Amino acid sequence: MHPHISEILFSEQVIAQRIRELGNEINRHFAQIDELTVISIINGAIPFTADLIRQIDLPVRIDCIRVSSYQNATSPVQAPNIINALRLDLRDRHVLILDDILDTGHTLKKVYQSIADLHPASLQFGVLLEKKARRAVEVQPDFVGFQIPDAFVVGYGLDFAERYRNLPFIGLLKPEFQQ
Ligand code: IMP
Ligand code: MG
Repeated sequence: MHPHISEILFSEQVIAQRIRELGNEINRHFAQIDELTVISIINGAIPFTADLIRQIDLPVRIDCIRVSSYQNATSPVQAPNIINALRLDLRDRHVLILDDILDTGHTLKKVYQSIADLHPASLQFGVLLEKKARRAVEVQPDFVGFQIPDAFVVGYGLDFAERYRNLPFIGLLKPEFQQ
């Protein structure tokens, strides 16, 4: 166990199994389309995106979007900004947005609105983790890996001040390391 982690919530094996199931759900949902465009919200969704797209068996295009929300803290700012524009044309495309975690919902709402403005044929989003108790704005994810309680988690893409993203599991960060 990592010395900064108090408890492992999801092991590497449990995450891999759930991502296989999510891949199957996505394959079934999009069975009728000829191509899917995946938009990954980086940096947090990098491992999730990398693993999930390899479970998708229809043609996939990928683009990334970067959103500023946390300033080295565990509380997000309320109005996230999109700081990397998309390169792919999304008009009339089937789009799946991926993020690591749905917390207050501000990030996904902002990304959802900016992509909806580009007139995709359909727009869905998937998150690896959802903290339902913290929802502040109305957003409904279409694909969810796991529900988690209101606690600060790191690993498998999730960070505190850009650290711990490389941990292969998801765990609780000890409070003394959250400052
Ligand atoms: P929201 O805008 O409040 O929904 O926050 C979403 C973003 O906050 C995610 O993309 C994460 O980058 C970050 N975030 C929220 N909760 C956690 C957490 O427990 N650990 C690490 N990052 C988190
Ligand atoms: Mg983050």
